[in-house]
Amino acid sequence: MSRFKDEINLEKLPKHVAIIMDGNGRWAKERGKERTFGHRHAITAVRDAINACNEIHIPYLTLYTFSSENWKRPEDEVHSLMSLLSETLMQEAEDIYNKGLRLHVIGDLDKLPELVKDQLLNLMDLTKDNQNGNLILALSYGSQDEILSAVRKISTKVKAGEIDPKDIDEAYFEKHLYTSEFPPVDLLIRTSGEIRISNFLLWQIAYAELQFLDILWPDFNRDEFFKCIVAYQQKERRYGKISEQLEEKKI
Ligand code: IPE
Ligand code: IPE
Ligand code: MG
Repeated sequence: MSRFKDEINLEKLPKHVAIIMDGNGRWAKERGKERTFGHRHAITAVRDAINACNEIHIPYLTLYTFSSENWKRPEDEVHSLMSLLSETLMQEAEDIYNKGLRLHVIGDLDKLPELVKDQLLNLMDLTKDNQNGNLILALSYGSQDEILSAVRKISTKVKAGEIDPKDIDEAYFEKHLYTSEFPPVDLLIRTSGEIRISNFLLWQIAYAELQFLDILWPDFNRDEFFKCIVAYQQKERRYGKISEQLEEKKI
């Protein structure tokens, strides 16, 4: 049981939670271990986040798993992260399927090792009809890249005369992002005490509630997740309006 879970208003849940899972290296360092030790211990936190989300039926969870900038890390760390990803996908595939989750990936899949890419494509295909929730992994993902690639796609259409520049509005632009099928992020959580976005979902978090936790990612768990939801529900989301307008409209 969870004290925090009991405090959650199930009528007011975020639709889309995104997490920057940060602090594995520091967690390992605190224990006098190699950074990889931290990455290995991060898996239970990932599982907890997925399960907690599923338990209260939050339909979209995006996990920042590997950024486009993370390729610049030492080769052995990149290599062990890719092996761990492959191993974890193998171990968790059945559970993801059985939970009724649909897997999506956002990012530059072509940069990933062939094996990992194949595993991801297979699992996406296997889970494509699942309807209990959407698990979105941001892998080799960079938001600036994503925005630029949308601009390129749209420019090509403008050049071909398919769209007039004056008709390009937010909704049209969003259709060209990797996240076109998902709602905007309602709640963004980052662990490890860093207060930055690190090139994650820059467009999609325009009106998200942001929560920066001091704990390191391997220490994250189900209770921490529920605590974040409780804190989220205490916020008033005004979208530029004033409180009284929200009450009038009972938003
Ligand atoms: C997050 O933890 C995992 C990835 C970015 C892949 P870090 O590896 O960034 O850990 P710190 O931030 O160095 O402690
Ligand atoms: C962000 O963490 C990327 C992921 C959690 C996958 P980083 O550790 O790469 O971010 P910076 O470098 O501290 O901004
Ligand atoms: Mg980090």
